[in-house]
Formats: sequence, C-alpha cells, structure tokens
Amino acid sequence: MAIHASSLLNLDSKMKAAVRSKYGLPGNLSIKELEIPTPNDNEVLIRVHASTVNRSDCHVLSGRPLLMRLFTGLFEPRSSIIGSDFTGEIAATGSNVQLFKTGDKIMGFGGGFGCGSHAQYFTLPETKAAKTILAMPVNITYEEAAACLEGAVYAASGILQFKPIAGQKALVYGATGAIGSSYVQFLKYYQVYITAVCSAENIPLVKSLGADKIIDYKKDDFTKDNERYDFVFDAVGKSSFIKCKKLLKEKGIYTSSNGAINLLWVLITPLFGKKKVCFPGTKSIKEGLIFIKALVEKGNFKPVIDRKYPLQKIAEAYEYVAAGQKIGNVIITMDA
Ligand SMILES: NC(=O)c1ccc[n+]([C@@H]2O[C@H](COP(=O)([O-])OP(=O)(O)OC[C@H]3O[C@@H](n4cnc5c(N)ncnc54)[C@H](OP(=O)(O)O)[C@@H]3O)[C@@H](O)[C@H]2O)c1
Repeated sequence: MAIHASSLLNLDSKMKAAVRSKYGLPGNLSIKELEIPTPNDNEVLIRVHASTVNRSDCHVLSGRPLLMRLFTGLFEPRSSIIGSDFTGEIAATGSNVQLFKTGDKIMGFGGGFGCGSHAQYFTLPETKAAKTILAMPVNITYEEAAACLEGAVYAASGILQFKPIAGQKALVYGATGAIGSSYVQFLKYYQVYITAVCSAENIPLVKSLGADKIIDYKKDDFTKDNERYDFVFDAVGKSSFIKCKKLLKEKGIYTSSNGAINLLWVLITPLFGKKKVCFPGTKSIKEGLIFIKALVEKGNFKPVIDRKYPLQKIAEAYEYVAAGQKIGNVIITMDA
C-alpha cells in the first residue's frame, strides 16, 4: 500500500462525511468525522470541493425503486456514504497509478449508484477514475462544475445517441430540472427547434437557455400541442409514450428519465410502427463529460444552480431535492 509520498497534499488525518446505516429518509444521515481513506497501489484519493445532491442520490438514500437494491445492497445499503458526482483535486495516488497526479483539478460522475463523494475525501480505483473523471474546464469554479455532472451527463448520453441535427424539432418536458435544463442547452447548440414545458414562473429561465416555444404545463396540456416532433424528451419522467405518441413525427423518438412505465415500449416499438421509445442509458460517462466540457469552454453550456448547502446541512438538501421541485442543481460545498 505505497502512496506517492510527494503526492500528498498536506493531509490532516480526519475528514467529514455524510453517513447513513440504513435505507430511509434524509433524517438518517449524520455528519461524522472519519479517518481519511488511504489509497491502495491502484487507487487515487480525491479531495472533494463540491458535489450535488441529485435525484440519483435520493434513490440511493431511500433504496427505491426496490429493484436498484440488487446493485446497492438488498436489505442494507452496501455503502454508508452516498454521493455520485464531485469536483476537486487528486490528493494522493497509489504507487501504480499512471494517469493522474497530485494537484490535478478534476470533475467526475461515478454513476447513478454513487461513489461516496458526499465526503471530503474518497478513493477510486484508477481504472474507474479513468472512465469517470476529466480535467475541470478552465473557465468555471468547482461549484459551477459540480452542476455540469449527474443531470448533464444523462442528457449528454441522449444527445450523443440520438445525434439531433439543425432544423429538427424537439419537445422537452420538465425543462427546468438538472436533466431538462441540460437537454435544452445541448439541443440549442445543435440548432434544434425546442418546445420546452415548464411552469410559468420558470419561463424566463427556460427562454434564456434557448427554448423557442414554451408550454406552461399548469395551464395547458402539452400532449395536445399541434406541432410534430422528431424527439420528445421527458426529462421529468412524468409522462408516457402512449400520451406523447401523437406528438411524434412518423419516425420520431420518445425517451423518458423514468424507465418503469415505458420499459415494455422499448421492446415493442421497434417491432411495430416507426415511432420508437429509446433509453439512452449512460454508455460512456467519459464521452458525456468530454462533450459537456467542450460546450462549457465554448460558452454554450451554463449550468443552472438553484441552491447551495454546506455538507453539515446535507439532510436539508436531500429534503429539498426529493420534493421534485429543484431548478437545475443543488450544490453541496465541502469546505464550509
Ligand atoms: N433513472 C435514473 O437513473 C434517474 C436518475 C436521475 C434522475 N431520474 C429521474 O429524472 C427526473 C428528473 O430529474 P432532474 O434531476 O432533472 O430534475 P427534478 O429535480 O426531478 O426536476 C425538478 C423540476 O421538474 C419540474 N417539474 C416538476 N413536476 C413537473 C411536471 N409535472 N411537469 C413539468 N415539469 C415538472 C419542476 O419545474 P417547474 O417549476 O417548472 O414545475 C422542477 O424544476 C426525476 O424524475 C428523477 O427521478 C432518473
């Protein structure tokens, strides 16, 4: 277990982390002082400066939907520290690590089931770090970069798979969430005509992100819209293919961030008719991060930040995010 001695960044021996011992509500989380983990020969130690509490983290906290426990632990969570995205620095490297060095400023998304980033430090195997970490964009802060991760990576996966082209039309339902606000900006970059669905109070925000037309879902039923679309992105996961089918052009694609109610259609629609339901999944986090970083550095992607909480108040952040009304991203700052 040799650590590159020169690679240690003035480490204290203790760190703070948000810890839980069972599935449940945010009240189960407590802030504990723990030993800073020591990376083994093939691991990197990451000093986290900012993270988010996102909807993926909420699922991992509650252990719902139950199916996810196949991956996160059947009766008790396998991991006591949640957290899926992070920005910070490489604080130390194991002696076999080649791709990273101390002081590298990085951002990463460890996947929807988490990687333990709601802590001031955590370790990752170099092999996983290589697939999930990228150097930070030069023109944004740690907190801004944290808002370019979980939701933006999901949206980037859809965009990279469906490859929209200029002049196509897309409808984004839930255009204000972390996923939806990213979809709108990415589609704008490809000069796609965008209809965004959100509530009246968020119309100025969604227009500023690039939407061409807005439907206030509290006033009008977006499924009765007269336009026909190449894509319907249900970013908030509250519609279904059946309800949205008539919005699609002949070869249109429907995708939703809520898998369950549309799962059967993913299998059936390729067999009958030309309108399809697709789930992009996150085939390559790295590819998504590269795409996002390029857009950030060109000024074509500005992450939306709703609130910031210090680590000590992370339970409040979970309560807020789980209510399903956050606008963009909720940031956790680790240093405060
Ligand atoms: N399958 C997965 O692995 C996975 C991972 C992450 C997230 N998700 C799912 O993806 C969805 C989106 O997550 P997110 O982080 O982007 O955002 P989110 O926090 O769920 O989205 C909040 C936004 O959605 C809007 N909203 C709420 N109800 C709405 C409705 N009925 N119609 C239209 N907009 C509505 C609200 O804006 P307004 O003020 O405009 O209403 C709010 O700004 C969630 O359902 C989440 O569970 C799935």
